[in-house]
Amino acid sequence: MSDATCETRHPDGRFRVVATKPLPGTRWLELLGAADCRVEVCGGERPLTRDEILAVVGRRCDGVLAQLTERWDAELLDRFAAAGGRVLANYAVGYDNVDVARATALGIAVGNTPGILTETTAELAVALTFAAARRVVEGQRLLTEGRFTGWHPSLLLGKRLWRKTLGVVGAGRIGATYARMLVEGHKMDLVYHDLHANEQLEASVAAYGALLVSRGEDPVSCRRAATLDELLESADVVSLHAALDDSTRHLIDAARLARMKEEAILVNSARGALVDEEALVAHCRRHPSFSAALDVFEREPELAPGLLDLPNVVAVPHLGSATGWTRRGMATLAAANVAGVLSGWPIWSGDVGPFLTGDPPPAAPSIVNAAALRLPTMRAARRPRDEAVSSDA
Ligand code: DGY
Repeated sequence: MSDATCETRHPDGRFRVVATKPLPGTRWLELLGAADCRVEVCGGERPLTRDEILAVVGRRCDGVLAQLTERWDAELLDRFAAAGGRVLANYAVGYDNVDVARATALGIAVGNTPGILTETTAELAVALTFAAARRVVEGQRLLTEGRFTGWHPSLLLGKRLWRKTLGVVGAGRIGATYARMLVEGHKMDLVYHDLHANEQLEASVAAYGALLVSRGEDPVSCRRAATLDELLESADVVSLHAALDDSTRHLIDAARLARMKEEAILVNSARGALVDEEALVAHCRRHPSFSAALDVFEREPELAPGLLDLPNVVAVPHLGSATGWTRRGMATLAAANVAGVLSGWPIWSGDVGPFLTGDPPPAAPSIVNAAALRLPTMRAARRPRDEAVSSDA
């Protein structure tokens, strides 16, 4: 039996939808109510246990607003399908916690929330980058421990990033936005590694470089590294923005760490398991001038033993998308995914801005297995540039 308490909204709704955590804002509930959904908002601060999820899904459940802290594997998805489940909207852009192949085989649409957390997550990655480079946390610790005895020429000297080389692993929406923040704001040269060339990113760095030259300054450069090792060997900062799957698990292991510069900074705001966390602890211990800046961990909420004791590690608890605007927007997109699929609407392609205010389009904003499920798509009409919510390239 479940200990999870649930609050019911729109009790007369035709479809039964479960949210496995309370979500911020109210628009998401309004969208679901308008789509004839009875919504059960379950749980509290801590994630529901597997048994609690099974209990809240119960015998009849048409849609779920799920969390990245839940493992929606074959067993859970089978139970959801048996309860009539048709759509699982993950409250995240990443969906490595969902067995999408199994969901597709069961005819369950899997939603995610792209385009609303791009800049927000990139900002956090920038914050971590500078926190590590300039030893912000060590500085605060020195103050709080009463060890500050006055200004000193060699107190907590950090790393200067201006005009240095930035390595971005995974140049999708978030990686490219983070890259532009540091290239355009901090004149770093960019080297990126991705299966696909990001021509838009390359063009924007080239245009910025030309602008600098027109002002008599040195340009900035951008190149796509042929191999990850090449990037690791040349970058002063390496920031991870790849999706987690079997091919990227432990992408950064002991051997790859050994290829990085002695004074490099490794930033991870994507998924913890991209990095072998035990190997990282050992590397940071042996190389005190190396730095790591982490928003995500391999076995959240657990951290590898010793990680937090290291002065050259800065860590925050998975805060990448944590602004009120973004988290409310994510709730809206997740609800619109559920409402859209249950209403039999097509899948939107394009900027998600129209879902955030006013009457949303009659569509589901982002279903990752739409093509495999052969769901029809609806192309967004182009809107004036200044109305766009996110540069979600
Ligand atoms: C995501 O969306 O995948 C983040 O990790 C949480 O916002």
